[in-house]
Parts: sequence; C-alpha cells; structure tokens
Amino acid sequence: MSISTQSTDGRWSSRWLFVLAAAGSAVGLGNIWKFPYIAGENGGGAFVLIYLVCVAFVGAPIMISEVMLGRKGRASPINTMRKLTQEAGAGARWTFLGWMGVLAGVLILSYYAVIAGWALNYIWLTASGTFDAASAQVAITTFDQLQQDPLEMMGWHSAFMVITIWIVARGVSRGLEAAIRWFMPLLFVLLLVLLGYSISSGGFAQGWAFMFDFNWSVVGPETWLIAMGQAFFTLSLGMGTMMAYGAYVPGDSHIGSTVLTIVALDTFVAVAAGLAIFPLVFVNGLEVGQGPGLMFVTLPLAFGQLPMGALFGTVFFVLVSFAAITSAISLTEPAIAYVVEEYNAKRSRVAISLGIFCWLLGLGTVFSFNIWADLKPLFGLNFFELVDQLSQNIMLPLGGLLIALFAVWVLPQSIAREQLQVTSKRVMFCWRVVGGVMAPLGVAAVFVYTFLPFFIG
Ligand code: TRP
Repeated sequence: MSISTQSTDGRWSSRWLFVLAAAGSAVGLGNIWKFPYIAGENGGGAFVLIYLVCVAFVGAPIMISEVMLGRKGRASPINTMRKLTQEAGAGARWTFLGWMGVLAGVLILSYYAVIAGWALNYIWLTASGTFDAASAQVAITTFDQLQQDPLEMMGWHSAFMVITIWIVARGVSRGLEAAIRWFMPLLFVLLLVLLGYSISSGGFAQGWAFMFDFNWSVVGPETWLIAMGQAFFTLSLGMGTMMAYGAYVPGDSHIGSTVLTIVALDTFVAVAAGLAIFPLVFVNGLEVGQGPGLMFVTLPLAFGQLPMGALFGTVFFVLVSFAAITSAISLTEPAIAYVVEEYNAKRSRVAISLGIFCWLLGLGTVFSFNIWADLKPLFGLNFFELVDQLSQNIMLPLGGLLIALFAVWVLPQSIAREQLQVTSKRVMFCWRVVGGVMAPLGVAAVFVYTFLPFFIG
C-alpha cells in the first residue's frame, strides 16, 4: 500500500485495514514461490522446523518492534530513526538502519520483479491451455524455454515493473484496498483447492513427511542462516517496510495482537503452498531441490489435471501476480516516503526514477538464468543468487537485529510501554527478554555460527 492509502487524517482508517495492507506486503512470492523451493533445496523437515522457530521467536518480536517504532515516529523509516534517536538522546548512527533498509528494498525489488514477471507470463500460458492434461515433461520444457529466453523474460519483467510503479506513482488507494479485501481470501480458497488436489494425488503422505519429518542429519550452519533469512523475507522485516506501514496505524490499536494475526496468516499461506507442491513433486517424479522453477513446474501440472484447470490456473496466477504487486509496492515505500518527505519531491517522479533503477539492476537477474548463467563473480554465486542472498540472509537479519536492540534498549521504556499498551511490569519484562535479548541474540548467534568458520578458516 502506498502512502496515500491513509484515510484523510493520515492514518489507516482502521486496524483491519492495516492488517490487510501488512498482510498484502507479507504474503507474496516469498510464501508461494520461495518458501517451497528453499525448503526443497534444504532437505525439507529440518528446515521447516527451524523456519517456524525463527518466525515465532525472531520474526514476531521484530515485527512488533518495527510497527511500534513506525507508529511512534510517524514518518518514513529514515526520519523515524532520526526523530527517535534524538528523542532518546542516542547517537545519529542509528539512522544508518533506515539507509540500509532503502538499499535492501532496491536490491529485493530488482529481482522480485523478474520472478513476478514469470507469474504474469504463466497467466497467459495457463489461459491458453498450454498445460491441459500436460505431462511433467511439458511443464519442465515450458519453464526452461522461458528461462532460456532473455528477451521474453525482459518483456514480462518490464510489464510487472511498469504496473507496480504506475500504482505507486499514482498513490492509488481505494482500488487496491478493495482488491486486497477480495483477492486475499480468494487466494486462500484457491490454495485450499490445490491442497485438496494434492491430498487426492496419492503423494500426500510423502509430501507431508518431506515437510515435517525432522531430519537433523541435513542441518548445517547454513540451514540456520537460510531459514532465518527466509523468515525475515516472508514477513517483510528488517528493512523498514513494517516501520513505514506502522506510521499509519491508528494510535489506539493493539500492536501485539495485530502482529500475531499477520504472522499467522503469512505462515499459513507458506505451509499451505508447501503442502500443495511437494506431493506433486513426488507423484510426478520431479526433483525437490530443483530451485526457483519448482512452483512453475509443479502447479501448472496440477491445474492441467483438474477439471476446469485452465480457468483455475489462470485465476491462480492472477492472484499470485496480485500478491506480488502488493508486496512490491511495499518494498518501495521506505525509499519513496523518505524522498517525498525530505525534498518535497513529486511522488510520481520519485517512483519512476526508482523503477528505472531497479529495472536496470533486474537485468542482472534476467541474465543470470541464461546468458550469464555461468558468470559467478563471488563465492560461486551468480548475480541473482548474490543479490538475493546478500539482501535476504545478511541485510534483513542485520537490520532486524538492530531494530530490536533499538526498540528495547535505546527507546525510552515509557514510550514502549505506551505503544504496546502494557501496564503490567511482568509482561513488560517478558517483552524485554524476548524482543531485546532472545531475538537479537538469536540473529547474532546464527551470524557467528555461520560466518566465524569462514573467518578463522
Ligand atoms: N514479504 C514479501 C514476500 O513474501 C516480500 C517483501 C515485501 C519484503 N516487502 C518486503 C521482503 C520487505 C523483505 C522486506 O513475497
């Protein structure tokens, strides 16, 4: 949601609208595309458990911190951090957090638009009957063809960026609110239909076992880093999105319960997507660790077998594209809100400049799947993997770590108490332990555990 989604007094008109907008940001490609393929690459069960632990003990408290800071600051993340550090008499260095968030948003949007472009393309492919009664081979070849064609990918990537920036630039509000209200529940329903199909497909037990059997033998230090990064990504944390949206939350709504609702919704969608996808992988003899193509190969197969599958499939990819748009919009909000606020710039101009920059950067991701596939400049990763992992596994957790520390140890306690509407000393103590010690310590431990071996050889 853009800045002008606020009601006339500059606030979301209700707590519910904030839930919708924040859920619109959180639920996106991260849940339906990324979660299943990363779980598949990292051995399933053990990864999923660690991910759930990260969501509950790191993600939820950090989201509370972000929303709370945003609502107190009532400005773009950079200026919120400026204001609050002054108020707390802390060093101006904390503002760095806001800047890192803007950078992370740019990096993420650059590749997010490319993958969302695939979803747009699949609307067309399913609608035209490409997957009607198709074999696994057809699904695989269709995806490979798209990947091998940089021009085709660029076209869809551009289309997605244009739509997103157009909405952001206009600050369209009412329409989007109404759309989220209808599309989100519809997305849930379609996921349930897919889930029903996958339960009846004959591979459900195997898919379930893959997702929930805790196979510790495949867990390494990296698994923790990846699961934690995924938790941050899927909840839109660590870069100021929730802070920017928090700035519009009405003063009297209860942050804790609101955040828990959003976290629950987001987790439900990810788990449902995984449970819909993995059984199909096993039934069709596909590869669990096949990477970014996983959703684009398995789900069209399912739709191809369903009665009225072309219709369902088309609607599904429309909804996925829509979920991606509401997430992409939220990625731009911290940057745009700042420039507009600070320089009194025209929203549309800022949006278009940002869009062009991210689009150019996104070409690196487009080429990573074809002409630059073998170009691995650092750590054996291609351009897409580098941008993705740098932003998701390092910048977001680092941002989140600092946000939580700031919210608990730097921000005056009286402000936190008033924001969280906590009167009991005991509850406040619990909050400080979870938000100020456990969550940051968790992130720090994962960093040390993953990177220390790297430094000491
Ligand atoms: N959470 C979104 C998804 O799952 C992506 C996203 C939107 C995001 N805003 C963000 C990720 C901010 C990190 C930070 O698709």
